[in-house]
Amino acid sequence: MFTSKITGLGSYVPENVVTNNDLSKVMDTNDAWIQERTGIKERRHIKKGDGNTTSTMAVKASKVAIERAGLTVDDIDMIIFATLSPDMYFPGGGVEVQELMGMRTIPALDVRNQCSGFVYSLSVADQFIKTGMYKHILVIGSENHSGGLDFTTRGRGVSVIFGDGAGAAVVSRNDTGKGGILSTHLHSEGKHKDELALNGPSTSCWVPELIDKNPQEDIPYYPVMNGTFVFKHAIVRFIEVITEGLEANKLEIADIDMLVPHQANLRISQFIQKKMKLDNSQVFNNIQKYGNTTAASIPIALTEAWEAGKVKEGDLVVLAAFGSGFTWGSAVIRW
Ligand code: UT7
Repeated sequence: MFTSKITGLGSYVPENVVTNNDLSKVMDTNDAWIQERTGIKERRHIKKGDGNTTSTMAVKASKVAIERAGLTVDDIDMIIFATLSPDMYFPGGGVEVQELMGMRTIPALDVRNQCSGFVYSLSVADQFIKTGMYKHILVIGSENHSGGLDFTTRGRGVSVIFGDGAGAAVVSRNDTGKGGILSTHLHSEGKHKDELALNGPSTSCWVPELIDKNPQEDIPYYPVMNGTFVFKHAIVRFIEVITEGLEANKLEIADIDMLVPHQANLRISQFIQKKMKLDNSQVFNNIQKYGNTTAASIPIALTEAWEAGKVKEGDLVVLAAFGSGFTWGSAVIRW
């Protein structure tokens, strides 16, 4: 059986920086509240006319990842694209990337696991590589949140948190015989699906129904989040699934060189770090600059950690995510 490894990483965020003070001009919020509760100082938002969409940002991140892997688009055997904010309701973003990058008629798979989307996608890529079916798979997380958030005071509990951006990884057959992706562990608990969700437009809430709604009362086309409930579950599941990954590989917390958690909230990352007794050098966070970019957050953070020399050959790298669904997962990687 083959093993897989990440051979190239890339990321892209829109140029437009939106600070907490910028948000306080359009809704009743303030820099102190946002920083205290989330650690976020600023995020990037697509600006009308800047040419960015979920798919075009994905392409920009992917080009960097493919080049860093020492490959060309013709070497890629499959696209796996995680997003909750595709350019179109259907088809998904994978085929858009295939077309925009001028790729062969390779398979394009769309993954809808929100904040866990990248870890789920990495796991799928790992399985396709292990069986020997494919050699190089492009795994992408990209989100355009700003186009669909409620930037009035009504939506402040959600809209201050999320930002736009994309990250990509090339997952390749590991010919070195050493390390690579050691394991992935995935979970879901659908009974909590309504705690963080976007209800419409959807087949249970079609557009004609939306038009009939009184926008002052019920806004099914904005995301809803029971923040405190999500927070409480996140801190438990993150630690559980990281521990599960370590135990499966007979590793210990002290063996972790770098934990890259999904950037949900700096307070969540700090809670995990404290509970697991990890020191600052063992955890990478960049939510301060980008907010929560959902499926893009891990590949953006991993790319930045790698660029900063904080992820090196031989390091034990752990990725972990939790989010809407609920879904959660981890990946343990020997770099
Ligand atoms: O990506 C994975 C999924 N998402 C998460 O992991 C998010 C997890 N949850 C969280 O990060 C936190 O729950 C939040 C940051 C979303 C909220 O923090 P919180 O400490 O749970 O605040 P809260 O929702 O309990 O709200 C506290 C107060 C409320 O006012 P009252 O009722 O106490 O008067 C809110 O109305 O803060 C108010 N509030 C705000 N105030 C200023 C809510 N949003 C804002 C805001 N600015 N943006």
